[in-house]
Amino acid sequence: MPFDFGPLFPPGTPAPAMRWTGSPKYNFTGGNNDADALPLDGLKQAAQAVLDREGRTLATYGLNSGPQGYRPLREFLSIKLKRDAGLSCSADDILIVSGSLQALDLVNAALLTRGDTVIVEQDNYQGTLTRLAKLGIKVIGIPLDKGGMRMDVLEAALAELKAHNIRAKYIYTIPTVQNPTGTILDEGRRATMLKLAEHYGVPIFEDDCYADLVWSGARPPALYAMSKSANVIHIGSFSKSIAPALRVGFIVAPWAIMSRILALKTDAGSGALEQMVLAEYCKPHFTEHVPVLRRALRKKLTTLTDALAEQFGTAAEFDEPKGGIFLWVKLPDKVDSLKLYQAALAAGVAINPGPEWSTDKAHSISRIRLCFASPSHDEIRAGIAVLAEVCRKEFGVPTRSANIERRV
Ligand SMILES: Cc1ncc(COP(=O)(O)O)c(C=O)c1O
Repeated sequence: MPFDFGPLFPPGTPAPAMRWTGSPKYNFTGGNNDADALPLDGLKQAAQAVLDREGRTLATYGLNSGPQGYRPLREFLSIKLKRDAGLSCSADDILIVSGSLQALDLVNAALLTRGDTVIVEQDNYQGTLTRLAKLGIKVIGIPLDKGGMRMDVLEAALAELKAHNIRAKYIYTIPTVQNPTGTILDEGRRATMLKLAEHYGVPIFEDDCYADLVWSGARPPALYAMSKSANVIHIGSFSKSIAPALRVGFIVAPWAIMSRILALKTDAGSGALEQMVLAEYCKPHFTEHVPVLRRALRKKLTTLTDALAEQFGTAAEFDEPKGGIFLWVKLPDKVDSLKLYQAALAAGVAINPGPEWSTDKAHSISRIRLCFASPSHDEIRAGIAVLAEVCRKEFGVPTRSANIERRV
């Protein structure tokens, strides 16, 4: 008999994980990147160069850079954030973390306790929503329109909380290519959000991991950059601009909160080799790599929207995202996306069902999120054709595919 660990697990331990059984044939889930657009040669050369020059510093925890991460990477970020996001910070204001998921955990650990309230965009990143649910946090979802989070509803929510003597712990926002809606909060709304945040004494938690993937290359200034009262915590990542498996993200925060976050980061530093390679590669190559990646992603989006138009016709509605790697699709009301998810998976197509990506289950039940960065153009076309077939079998829609009338 194998040893029984069961009685040892403390109360509140999460349910056991499932074993990984491989990727589905057509995978429209996960924030994966486009493998063909990965700057592999550049990363190889950077690895060789940085290891030749300073590889022996790996013998020391934290290299020679201290607990906030490899200094040349933080220096690159401080220049990049100023150039791209108008954000002024020094290397000392930046903490390198193991992906922005660790940033979410650290900020939550610093600020939240069971029963607290936070405000978020109604349609949202699943990784954020599941974390908040596990922590027992009350989550208020603010609906979005084509311009991102609605400021009128945010204002009403803050006023309502105040009337009940509740101060939200933060307003969490993905303002630049929102996940999953692909919207961008314009500068005017950013100013309004900052004004409201200041008025109600609530900090802003800005998750900017898609900011490099705006099609036009032009983005509004970061909320952190626009704040006059140091009330914004800004997080970012190299997952979407370079590669998610590297697990390198970062936090920019005023020292009052950074010092608390640092005290909670007890893993003796994030992977140093990744940080060294990234710094070596990014300094000379980041600005030339990102437009190449954006063009590759944009082409895949076009393949996806063409395939949806061909296979689903008017049954699939969506707003073109302003950048990024996913499309938020509305299917007819009769489609239950949780059931569609199960049936599609059985046919080899993985999609994200809307309710896992929203605080409003009724609003999201007939919506799905499709990630288009990682499947090839052929896989996108074939996968959407299978999805349409499954959807028709289960729900009777779409009735036309590839301009052919289909019988259910
Ligand atoms: C909004 C948002 N935040 C954070 C993350 C986590 O990314 P990573 O930990 O790879 O930086 C993701 C990943 O998809 C995301 O969409």
